[in-house]
Amino acid sequence: MDRSDKPRVVLGVSGGIAAYKACELLRRLTESGHDVRVVPTGSALRFVGEPTWAALSGNPVTTGVWEDVHEVPHVRIGQEADLVVVAPATADTLARAAHGLADDLLTNTLLTARCPVVFAPAMHTEMWEHPATAENVATLRRRGAVVIEPAVGRLTGKDTGKGRLPDPGEIFEVCRRVLARGAAPGRDLAGRHVVISAGGTREPLDPVRFLGNRSSGRQGYALARTAVARGARVTLVAANTALPDPAGADVVPVGTAVQLREAVLKAAEDADAVVMAAAVADFRPAHYAQGKIKKREGQEPEPVALVRNPDVLAELSAARPRPGQVVVGFAAETDDVLANGRAKLARKGCDLLVVNEVGEDKTFGAEENEAVVLGADGSETPVPHGPKEALADTVWDAVVHLLNAG
Ligand code: CTP
Repeated sequence: MDRSDKPRVVLGVSGGIAAYKACELLRRLTESGHDVRVVPTGSALRFVGEPTWAALSGNPVTTGVWEDVHEVPHVRIGQEADLVVVAPATADTLARAAHGLADDLLTNTLLTARCPVVFAPAMHTEMWEHPATAENVATLRRRGAVVIEPAVGRLTGKDTGKGRLPDPGEIFEVCRRVLARGAAPGRDLAGRHVVISAGGTREPLDPVRFLGNRSSGRQGYALARTAVARGARVTLVAANTALPDPAGADVVPVGTAVQLREAVLKAAEDADAVVMAAAVADFRPAHYAQGKIKKREGQEPEPVALVRNPDVLAELSAARPRPGQVVVGFAAETDDVLANGRAKLARKGCDLLVVNEVGEDKTFGAEENEAVVLGADGSETPVPHGPKEALADTVWDAVVHLLNAG
């Protein structure tokens, strides 16, 4: 591919210790066919030097507005970009961006860019929580920027808390999604809180055994990633998944159906939409053995008695903790897929039901999916075989439609 055909990305880097992680983001962007221009702030260069950015991007690196003036870079770089991503975005850079300052090349670029802009903040928890930063973030979001929630974990020094730069691979996923959707309807979930359940519950029999299922959580994670890219605040209730946390999602790990119910209902209190993509066990063992169940020579094992688990989807659909809330279910069916799906939609009382056909070799753990999105209004949207993110986007399209109509 000729450089001129490649999507043009501006990687803004501001002065935080997480600047070194932007090198990995840069590699991912260049290796996946993007033409990346790195625009560091002056203080970013104290953490990672200009030769690193130039070598990894294959492009010149400029920080101030007084270099290469004949090329008018302070206007051109922003105008030509298809995406601007600032990672890490410090409290200072967020403040300058929110107030429209233009005292270096990065802030000039942010003012001239007409493409989608993604900020991946990283700072200490106190700085992130300060009302000044919170207001700046709200301002940027209101103007349409995607500001990814920082991750929780180890910060510089000994402290831990919210403020870590999310995994560079996950920031890359957000960039990819934002680029794929283009500028206009890209952030149609801005200002919305969405809750997604993902993975499969495990119902313990004894300290070492459980009844589980084969759900990988990939579809739920794809829903979380696409919702972040569309501007939503995302709570991801994750049951026994082994996937990296999607950048910007608030991840609540759970084990059993009862724990999942509690976490989903709590998060749903102020949610605009809840998508139940998790495979929730319908039954759990009636008794939990405190010690490991042992086999006994010459004796058949005791049968395992089961009891019903709460049906979270049905409960939410009936309760609607927030007026106008949209509730989405998933159904995995092996036979009579559409008829069973319609019946389940009515039984559960949700607004949308995503029905897919499953079997030994279908869907579980796969990267791709094929489904039909059924609406309580009688609508039926087939989604052809493709990436789980394409199905996720179709689900959000339907959710946005219902939210805007309601
Ligand atoms: N679900 C739930 N709570 C349960 C079981 C399922 O919230 N205890 C949700 C799932 O997250 C999914 C939807 O309900 O969104 C469909 O689940 P499924 O188990 O396929 O539906 P059932 O009504 O149990 O139907 P079946 O007769 O096929 O078991």
